[in-house]
Amino acid sequence: SRPIRIAPSILSADFTRLGDEIRAIDAGGADYIHVDVMDGHFVPNITIGPLIVSAIRPLTKKIIDVHLMIAPADPYLGAFAKAGADSITVHAEAGPHLHRSLQAIRAEGKRACVAINPATPVSAIEHVIGDVDLVLVMSVNPGFGGQKFIPESLNKIRQVRALIGNRPIDLQVDGGVTEHNAKALAEAGADLYVAGTSVFAGNDPKTYAGRIAAIRNA
Ligand code: DX5
Ligand code: ZN
Repeated sequence: SRPIRIAPSILSADFTRLGDEIRAIDAGGADYIHVDVMDGHFVPNITIGPLIVSAIRPLTKKIIDVHLMIAPADPYLGAFAKAGADSITVHAEAGPHLHRSLQAIRAEGKRACVAINPATPVSAIEHVIGDVDLVLVMSVNPGFGGQKFIPESLNKIRQVRALIGNRPIDLQVDGGVTEHNAKALAEAGADLYVAGTSVFAGNDPKTYAGRIAAIRNA
């Protein structure tokens, strides 16, 4: 069976002590640091940009996994690459030239990743599967932390797993992931779990290692 990796989403961190939060999840066993970028246009919320990515870059050697919920994405890919992102995810719905966006990420020397919203069929990424390092299946409608997992996502994860086959591509799931649905997600084929609320709830750094382990070992 494939190793399970955990990507805590800093969307649920305490931003008044962001540095300490990053150090705590790093020490607590996070594999990736997930950064949710929202523009108030592609999704109905506004969060953070390249400035925060460059601020946290010196604090961790873990993969900084930038999830772009912005449209258009292409004008900002270079800025996130220069800020220190290792992995950049664009949404299939964010523009008409997904293949170009993925090539632009690879041209920056970064991992090129694609996300699909709950209503988007897997066929939307079929023709770029050879050009990606990660597929992100959204299991909530993007925009906010703390939403309820959409059960149909399990079927979609199974379809994406079949599409990936033996390729070395991460299958990431994002939204409503907890220690309670982690086992079903693994059985469906996911191997990289984004977790915001289920890691950061209460914002007590002493709890993070245990919560990350609870999801991983579920
Ligand atoms: C949602 C973001 C998620 C979010 C997940 O739009 O993409 O990464 O932070 O938060 P939880 O784990 O609380 O659903
Ligand atoms: Zn995300």
